[in-house]
Amino acid sequence: MSHASVNPARGPFPEGFLWGGATAANQMEGEYAGGGKGLSIQDVMPKGITSPPTEGPTPDNLKQVGIDFYHRYAEDIALFAEMGFKVYRFSIAWSRIFPEGDNSEPNEEGLEFYDRVLDELEKHGIEPLVTLSHYETPLNLARTYGGWTNRKLIGFYERYCQVLFERFGSRVKYWLTFNEINSIIHEPFISGGIPIPRDELTEQDLYQAIHHELVASGRVTRMAHELMPAAKIGCMIVAHPVYPLTPSPDDVVQAMHTAHASYAFGDIHCRGIYPGYLLRHFRDNGIELEITDQDRDDLTNTVDFVSFSYYMSICESADATIAKGPGNLMGGVPNPTLEASEWGWQIDPQGLRVIINDYWERWQKPLFVVENGIGAKDVLVDVDGSLTVEDDYRIDYMNDHLVQVREAIADGAHVLGYTSWGCIDIVSAGTAQLSKRYGFIYVDRNDDGTGSLERYRKKSFDWYREVIASNGAILDGSAA
Ligand code: BG6
Repeated sequence: MSHASVNPARGPFPEGFLWGGATAANQMEGEYAGGGKGLSIQDVMPKGITSPPTEGPTPDNLKQVGIDFYHRYAEDIALFAEMGFKVYRFSIAWSRIFPEGDNSEPNEEGLEFYDRVLDELEKHGIEPLVTLSHYETPLNLARTYGGWTNRKLIGFYERYCQVLFERFGSRVKYWLTFNEINSIIHEPFISGGIPIPRDELTEQDLYQAIHHELVASGRVTRMAHELMPAAKIGCMIVAHPVYPLTPSPDDVVQAMHTAHASYAFGDIHCRGIYPGYLLRHFRDNGIELEITDQDRDDLTNTVDFVSFSYYMSICESADATIAKGPGNLMGGVPNPTLEASEWGWQIDPQGLRVIINDYWERWQKPLFVVENGIGAKDVLVDVDGSLTVEDDYRIDYMNDHLVQVREAIADGAHVLGYTSWGCIDIVSAGTAQLSKRYGFIYVDRNDDGTGSLERYRKKSFDWYREVIASNGAILDGSAA
């Protein structure tokens, strides 16, 4: 990297920094209709967000088998332990616990599966970090109720969370309420189970759905604190620093508006009230939300920490004719100074330092980087008789991002930990491909569904083990 924004007094990562990896149930578990599981929205999204949902499950959906974590979890967790993971972020599949979402009783077989996962983690001394809802709304809640547009979802979600808190509360300290909650603005079906295409969904219905999710998040945060006094509850946001494309004040103001759209979710989770700029957006657009006194009270249950995914920064321009590029559920105007991954996501390690500083200064809550990584087309090769992937590009990507986390910590931010996304190859959320690989562990499964499901350690596996063992001391900051 070319910029000279180097802090010469880089310290080590703090004692107890939580190093690890992250995944989501629907992208890896498989057993999509077994173990008493009901269908989720993912079971009708065989192509991710690239094409509309299907009527019912179709055999071309790679998520039906995923990487068979449902049966291979012990082997996979042992590999995470071999890398020295301190924490493992995973989601619980809502429809494995409440198959239809509105059932009166939970599915015991589903709860037992997560008992077994937690047993393995405990065996290896790995702290669990559980996402309660990671793009996995039960399909029935989407189709029968209209997803989060319906206030009833609050109650269904509360009951689901209560079951998990009572069952796993003594074993799980860190919980996240909704994965990338702000993504609902761009992708209402995958994010909010709303079965109406984005361009047909009114702003009124969209923001009412968002309100319901925020109230639900506040309600379960209060419940978690009551039932599990030691628990730490976080919100989870797609983070993307927004840069003005040019120094023109028009571009700067446009960048501010785009940033506000995401800030709102953190502002409400951290301050417990709607920010003025969002209230103005409602006034200007004739949006009148149904907000009860009880809702207002529920929103005051603020989170203990803020977690976020970071893959890329975006640019904004006041010129609406400039095309947006690809990105993590939402693209921005491409930045002419940056290179991109094979899927067009622009690579900006310093953006991670920027966003950590930004969030820390804005909210003064501990931060957790719960997703970061690069999707790439890995190739399995034979090195001295062992199959592996020489993924130096992944090592470079992660090294450069972790160096910027260290910079941000040196800047004064409080960062609890870092879980790299897709620490083992899983099915992509956006494109539903397996060939978009993020892992330190290669899984032999291809986009056409062939493959042995065998696991192989990539070169980055050993590298990450050394990063963790040295608490980040081996990171190469020479290019920062
Ligand atoms: C985030 C999601 O949007 O990015 C993950 O929380 C997802 O579920 C990750 O997998 C990477 O995106 P993709 O589309 O490359 O899988």
